[in-house]
Amino acid sequence: MILKNKRILLIIAGGIAAYKSLDLIRRFREQGADVRPLMTAGAQQFVTPLAVGALSASHVYTDLFSREDEQDVGHIRLARDCDLIVVAPATADLMAKMAHGLADDLASTVLLATDKPVLVAPAMNPKMWSTKATQRNVATLKADGIHFIGPERGEMAESGEAGLGRMSEPMQIVETATLLLDGHAKPLLGRKAIVTSGPTHEPIDPVRYIANRSSGKQGHAIAAALAALGADVTLVSGPVTIPDPLGVRTIHVERAEEMRDAVLAALPADIAVMVAAVADWRVEAQAGEKIKKQAGEPPAPLHLIENPDILKTVGHHAMRPKLVCGFAAETQSVIENARKKLDTKGADMIVANDVSAETGIMGGERNSVRVITRDGVDVWPDMPKGEVAEKLAEKIASYFATS
Ligand code: CTP
Repeated sequence: MILKNKRILLIIAGGIAAYKSLDLIRRFREQGADVRPLMTAGAQQFVTPLAVGALSASHVYTDLFSREDEQDVGHIRLARDCDLIVVAPATADLMAKMAHGLADDLASTVLLATDKPVLVAPAMNPKMWSTKATQRNVATLKADGIHFIGPERGEMAESGEAGLGRMSEPMQIVETATLLLDGHAKPLLGRKAIVTSGPTHEPIDPVRYIANRSSGKQGHAIAAALAALGADVTLVSGPVTIPDPLGVRTIHVERAEEMRDAVLAALPADIAVMVAAVADWRVEAQAGEKIKKQAGEPPAPLHLIENPDILKTVGHHAMRPKLVCGFAAETQSVIENARKKLDTKGADMIVANDVSAETGIMGGERNSVRVITRDGVDVWPDMPKGEVAEKLAEKIASYFATS
């Protein structure tokens, strides 16, 4: 059941191939999809709404101005309440309307109002397909991001004419729809990502260490969100008390140097998101034994040296990932400081948050961030860390979609 829980709006336009749509509905349902059918007036001349309704076990939508339909769902919701729209068969007339943005019936209005992927399976007489006007419309629709399957070569039912114009077989349409749905759900499939998360612990002696308040919640959520979009994720986590995210390879480390080594060992990658609150300094010489108080003596001084900057190392590495994203924990001049970090760290994106104590972000459940790229600043409202993670994963996915 590869299409389990997928919602398909099937638009049936007027052509003899509409009889194949009955089989298409069955095939989609066999794979677990919910099919909501919408028929044009022309389609109803070829197959009846009764047959379509019976096979889909759904209400059949037919009228733009039906009081019943509008109250039930409304054309805007019909356009959005689905994962994919399939137009099968698509006539020359409906494609012309789509290409020109006409909206004079329910099918064309829904197609104009949708923000979902659309798969078109044309069926028409070979002359109507090959004519310049139709080909112009097809080119426009393809440029608009509409997906096509077919038409196939074959003999026409009505005229016996042979040529391109036969609608693709229902199983082929189901297969293409499945590919599209998977592709849309998992835009980062095949991409490798490295995420760092949590604090680091820099030992002073066998029992003491320098640390910070990072919980790892934001970094772990980002690793999970990238994995949910299909990325192959390696999470390098400092000491945290939260569980490893599902579907992610988690490597546990303590110190900044160990974190750097684990990150470099995970290269090459397409994406690096460095969320860890890496301790900037470590104690130069870790005591082998517990440092004891000495009566009457001042406490032993701690001599600190700088830790490697993992983000900067990755941002300037010979195997630099295509997208490098860092975080900036600021308490003042948030955007200005974050902008500087784009260059110093060799990053493409900096997620800046104001960690002044009163924001409660460090260790808390919510985050309020600004995302800084060389193109500008996105200010995101305060939201749970899980949502920040999903939004960031989507932003990363769209970066790969457009570049
Ligand atoms: N970072 C890192 N390795 C370090 C220090 C920081 O990878 N040794 C990464 C963090 O994971 C984060 C970003 O760099 O993505 C934060 O940069 P940092 O220079 O530490 O800045 P802030 O903590 O925001 O503040 P400051 O500029 O004061 O250091």
